[in-house]
Amino acid sequence: MGIRLDESVNWPALYAIYSATFGQLAEADIVQHMHEDGDLILSLMAYDDVPVGHVAYSRLTLHETPSLKAAVLAPLAVAPSFQKQGIGASLIQDSLKRLANTGYDLVLVLGEPHYYGRFGFSPRLAEKLKTPYDGPYLQALALSDKGKDAHGSVSYAQAFVELE
Ligand SMILES: CC(C)(COP(=O)(O)OP(=O)(O)OC[C@H]1O[C@@H](n2cnc3c(N)ncnc32)[C@H](O)[C@@H]1OP(=O)(O)O)[C@@H](O)C(=O)NCCC(=O)NCCS
Repeated sequence: MGIRLDESVNWPALYAIYSATFGQLAEADIVQHMHEDGDLILSLMAYDDVPVGHVAYSRLTLHETPSLKAAVLAPLAVAPSFQKQGIGASLIQDSLKRLANTGYDLVLVLGEPHYYGRFGFSPRLAEKLKTPYDGPYLQALALSDKGKDAHGSVSYAQAFVELE
């Protein structure tokens, strides 16, 4: 599969992917909100000639373990006609490597354990955190040994706080 991954933010493509996938602009607006607030840690676009998928990460503050670098994976979308071809997996695996290489210790995601479990995300690690999204769909992945010590209350980026 010849997909290309690119960190530069292509806003028209990003809006097109999220609106094709979710039938609304809310998710792309969240990414733009994160960007405007300086909370967008990583944006990765997948191209198969045309833009086909996108994942965003935003900052997460861990109040009890503030020396840990943590991020939230959301949103994620692969355009409907390109789903189930491994593009989502490429986006996640590649972005997690980029975060690990830049010193991130922990990633949090809210989603289907059946999907995110294959990348190592676990609800058990997330259970030690106190978040607005506590429950079986909240999963965490430690990118370093330090990440395994994460616990206590967290603050999401403002773009999410305004959705609560
Ligand atoms: C979820 C999504 C990003 C996965 O991307 P993808 O490129 O289709 O995924 P991959 O090809 O890497 O993996 C395919 C696997 O994901 C599973 N999958 C796809 N969407 C899923 C979902 N919403 N929940 C659970 N599993 C899902 C497929 O069943 C398949 O599983 P299998 O390997 O056991 O057969 C994509 O399907 C998508 O954008 N879906 C709609 C939006 C969404 O739900 N986004 C995630 C939350 S913000």
